[in-house]
Amino acid sequence: MAINGQFNTDAKALNRRIVAHDKYGEKDINEWIFSNLDVARNMMILDLGCGTGKQTIPMAKAVGKDGRIVSVDISQEALNVLLEKATEENVSEQITTLCCSLDDIAIHLENERFDRVLSSYSLYYAQNPENLVKTIWETLKTGGIFFFCGPAKDNNRELKSFHYSLKGEPVPSESGGAAFMEKLGQRLVREVFRHVEVTMFENPLRFDSAEALYAYWSSYNLYENELDERFKVAAAEHFNRNSFFVTKKRVIGVKAVK
Ligand SMILES: C[S@@+](CC[C@H](N)C(=O)[O-])C[C@H]1O[C@@H](n2cnc3c(N)ncnc32)[C@H](O)[C@@H]1O
Repeated sequence: MAINGQFNTDAKALNRRIVAHDKYGEKDINEWIFSNLDVARNMMILDLGCGTGKQTIPMAKAVGKDGRIVSVDISQEALNVLLEKATEENVSEQITTLCCSLDDIAIHLENERFDRVLSSYSLYYAQNPENLVKTIWETLKTGGIFFFCGPAKDNNRELKSFHYSLKGEPVPSESGGAAFMEKLGQRLVREVFRHVEVTMFENPLRFDSAEALYAYWSSYNLYENELDERFKVAAAEHFNRNSFFVTKKRVIGVKAVK
């Protein structure tokens, strides 16, 4: 599968997006994720594509000293940020990091069994998601939950319209992560899991300045260097006429029970 994108493994861009979601978002995506995952004390959790630890750190707190989170990412830079935060938050003892591709986890986790597996905005980066879903099923204990989430087809429609209007082009039909989340990802889990539920989460991001909007766009895979100046001018014009620019994160979540 392996979705192309300039910021897929860029820890600094990821952090800028997380800061924007926290500052301008109406809701907290973690609340929705954790309500689906149903995390409890002493659990063993696998966090795939954990990035800088947005979910790993709160999950490490929730499982407590006798639980454990194994956090996997292909970016050592992202894992270093995660480890720093874990030390600051006093949860490093219950976190193990693993720097490898999602496609290689079976080799590293041969004898591990987990209560929960999470993949937030990452499953579609696997070269072979079909194999990965089978591996996830094998690493889960019976009754364990796998939850993955990512963009729905109309994700950030407003920002995409703004971006493509600068190029004089229509917004292209969905490909990449959204196409995976809408179809292939759901089909793959239904083939191996006994119970699958699909849920939606919507989070409006309300930017209050041209600078904030530009900072978000320039950390997002939509970004194009050639449009940089045009985007800044158009964002300034937008804020001459309006107090806010609102775009909505539209997220699909898939919960699968073994
Ligand atoms: C959008 S971030 C999501 C981070 C975190 N789960 C969150 O929701 O905030 C995607 C993460 O997947 C990692 N990633 C991308 N391709 C990968 C691969 N093939 N194997 C493992 N991790 C990968 C990136 O380095 C990045 O940290």
